[in-house]
Amino acid sequence: MTPLTAHPSPRFGGDTALPGDKSISHRALILAALASGTSRISGLLASDDVAATEAAVAALGARVERDTDGVVHVTGAEWRSPSGPIDCGNSGTSARLLIGAAAGFEGLAATFIGDASLSRRPMNRIVDPLRRMGARIEGGETLPLELVGARLGGIEHESPVASAQVKSAILLAGLRTEAPVRVIEPRPSRDHSEIMLAQFGVEGAVEEVEGGIAIALGARRDLVATDIAVPGDPSSAAFVWAAAAMIPDASVTTRGVLVNGTRTGFLEKLEAMGARVRLDHHYLCSGEPVADVTVAHERLEPVQVGPDEVPAVIDELPMLACVAAMAEGESCLEGIGELRVKESDRVGAVAAGLTANGVTTFATEDSLRILGRGEVPGGRMVSTRHDHRIAMAFLTLGLAARRAITVDDADPIATSFPEFAEVMRGLGGGIAAP
Ligand code: S3P
Repeated sequence: MTPLTAHPSPRFGGDTALPGDKSISHRALILAALASGTSRISGLLASDDVAATEAAVAALGARVERDTDGVVHVTGAEWRSPSGPIDCGNSGTSARLLIGAAAGFEGLAATFIGDASLSRRPMNRIVDPLRRMGARIEGGETLPLELVGARLGGIEHESPVASAQVKSAILLAGLRTEAPVRVIEPRPSRDHSEIMLAQFGVEGAVEEVEGGIAIALGARRDLVATDIAVPGDPSSAAFVWAAAAMIPDASVTTRGVLVNGTRTGFLEKLEAMGARVRLDHHYLCSGEPVADVTVAHERLEPVQVGPDEVPAVIDELPMLACVAAMAEGESCLEGIGELRVKESDRVGAVAAGLTANGVTTFATEDSLRILGRGEVPGGRMVSTRHDHRIAMAFLTLGLAARRAITVDDADPIATSFPEFAEVMRGLGGGIAAP
């Protein structure tokens, strides 16, 4: 456990690039490992979560090499049994997508394990539909799970949660069958799997249906190697944007960030709160929209988030709750029950961290109200509960609070944004050992 402190930083701003998007990095490795031929991936995120997926696809039979420019070359293969357990570490995306992708390889047997946090997270949301497709999975509702590859059939799955991990697990399993495969989700979740499958030559169709959105695989399901460029991660950029929104006179520009509409909820909420937000230099990067994003401080109004808006801001809600604490008035985040089954119980972790630092909050099972007073007293320690986004959200808040905020454990930041402290320091953020 490495504690870290963020000090009030009145001069914050500048220009920065960000590491590659985590969701897209996982998918690039997995799809390349399933494809025929060699794919080249540039801008792949270097973090513990993505390293877990990289080690997994190598153990399952793909060849993974790096050239001197840091471009990762992945040669796909028929997946086979790994020599030991597949360790997904802290990464839910690795576990859920890999289990789906591996389920249809007959003859493969693999055990999937994870760290203490991942071993508490629900897996029945993928195991149940995969079993209905014919997958053979031994174990309960959580990791460890044992998978024996089997011949799969089709499915029409109505997911009760809007989860890209569930949708992707089923679509990836569906690549191994010719039968109809269709997932219906109540609200659109991030669509990186669909976009990247098209890059690898796989057909699909998306349509609005009663009660949500349906995503179906088409007839062409063979993946052909391609080159993928991974854009900057908006979920990491969110901390930089939040600091700029909260600190008087601050302005930052983040270059080459993913601005896919299933991920821009945080930017839209910052703008609704009064921050100045500008997007320039739009372009497409392996099918994904990318832009330079500038965020600048203005006086912040409270924010309201409803259930329909949650998927596009899901990973940024801890940071949004902290920004809301800097606004004057009552903010309310509703329909956020999914946050309780992330890397930690994020509703509980955020409420506890804000309360410790002098902010009044009211939490229910699936909502959080924050009584903002235009400033945050700070000065106290926050327990990160081994959750990277809790650590980064409170360190970011510490840059804008009246007194420093310390997190008890900054180590989990390495799962998604190892350069976080360095990037913040480069923009004037006072982050240091306590
Ligand atoms: C992710 C999907 C989201 C998100 C997670 C990454 C993905 O989870 O919270 O950080 O890459 O598919 P759910 O799909 O479970 O909502």
